[in-house]
Amino acid sequence: MGNAGFPNDFLWGASSSAAQIEGGWQEGGRTPSIWDIAPAKKVKQGESCHTACDHYHRWREDVALMQKMGLRSYRFSVSWSRIMPEEGKVNPTGIKFYSDLVDTLLAAGVEPLVTIYHWDMPLWVYKKGGWLSEAIIPLFQEYTRVIVEALSDRVKWWIPMNEPGCFIMNAYLQGVHAPFRRDYLALSKLTRICMLAHGEAVKTVRKYAKQPVKVGMAFSTGAYVPDAETPEKIEEARRLSMEDGCGLMGNRWWMDPILAGKPVRAYGVYSSSQRDMEQIHQPLDFVGLNIYTPYNYADWGANKQAPAPGTPKNSLGWVIDDRCMYWNVRFVYEKYRLPVMITENGMSDYDAPSLDGQVHDPKRVDFLIGYLRQLKRAIDEGIPVLGYQHWSILDNFEWAEGYDPRFGLVYVDFQSGERIPKDSARVYKKIIESNGSVLSKEVATWVPDSLH
Ligand code: BGC
Repeated sequence: MGNAGFPNDFLWGASSSAAQIEGGWQEGGRTPSIWDIAPAKKVKQGESCHTACDHYHRWREDVALMQKMGLRSYRFSVSWSRIMPEEGKVNPTGIKFYSDLVDTLLAAGVEPLVTIYHWDMPLWVYKKGGWLSEAIIPLFQEYTRVIVEALSDRVKWWIPMNEPGCFIMNAYLQGVHAPFRRDYLALSKLTRICMLAHGEAVKTVRKYAKQPVKVGMAFSTGAYVPDAETPEKIEEARRLSMEDGCGLMGNRWWMDPILAGKPVRAYGVYSSSQRDMEQIHQPLDFVGLNIYTPYNYADWGANKQAPAPGTPKNSLGWVIDDRCMYWNVRFVYEKYRLPVMITENGMSDYDAPSLDGQVHDPKRVDFLIGYLRQLKRAIDEGIPVLGYQHWSILDNFEWAEGYDPRFGLVYVDFQSGERIPKDSARVYKKIIESNGSVLSKEVATWVPDSLH
């Protein structure tokens, strides 16, 4: 570990999304999203997001927990159907919910980072064609304008979209996420519409913002970890991460047009045309990276390796290898030269309270420390990293996987709604308090204080 430390204004935070935590699906003038009406057979155990963590009612308690943990930032998403329950109609109750949340976060010393779209499309937008119709572009623009006008006097950080690569793939091509469509031939059309809408949203944030803002996309991303740190192996890993291999669809398909203004061709189709680049390639202030697992073992990778027996995994079967944090940040930065924000990173497990009533999650504690040490390596090498938003603040609704995969720093009892900060929350607090300097110490010397 170098001695430079994390930057003084580093945004130590945690992340969530509206559909995954809020609940209150029919309250405060909200109309359904495509996830509210997901058929029971499409989600494990027929679970729904109708109540989720009941954050809609417990948000003050959740902000108080963030404050106790010493978080400096919190990334959340806004529910489009809470803000605009139908076309052309703005819902003041929905606006007030987020406005109060922002005020309370700021009073608690927590910087809000707002994601405008995290997959929960209003049903009424879907009925107008969703991401398959260009009609969504002005609708998304209008929604963006409304939320930016309402919050940007206090919110500086804006993320118009979360992981389009993931929601297009899962929801429209493979049919495993709402709206459960399966049409691989629509890839090019979907991508183009999504990128045009993103470009429009970026322009809209800048146009209506009431103060200087920072705007970035949260990409689903990944990287190969080189087998050895020789120049040849590093170059091979870079090529597979950023040129072909998983990197072609995982990174380049979205990043080249949006970050570099270059259309990409894959599977005989283009992600967008040269003509669209002016609209798509809007200047961004940072690149948001959601980093979980290396590409080395990805199912869809041409160079897929089988993990060695006993390789550590999370409860969804994703390989845990903290080195992917360093390589992912480095490869993306080397190619696009934008400051990096880790917009998500975390691991699922089957956490449960122990007999002492606490939730001990040593695996997540190690995950957190390991991945942050690798992030520090990138920072020590001079890569500008603005912050780290752990996924997630709370155990929550993991889309089609339901409630079993627990990603939270805070345990949620989904029957009673009770929250119990896990050991990882206490360790994270220590890390934040020291601005990361304890990461270089022996873990055994840390005695996490109770948050209770
Ligand atoms: C998504 C989150 C999701 C997390 C874990 C990310 O792709 O943005 O909504 O819960 O991964 O699967």
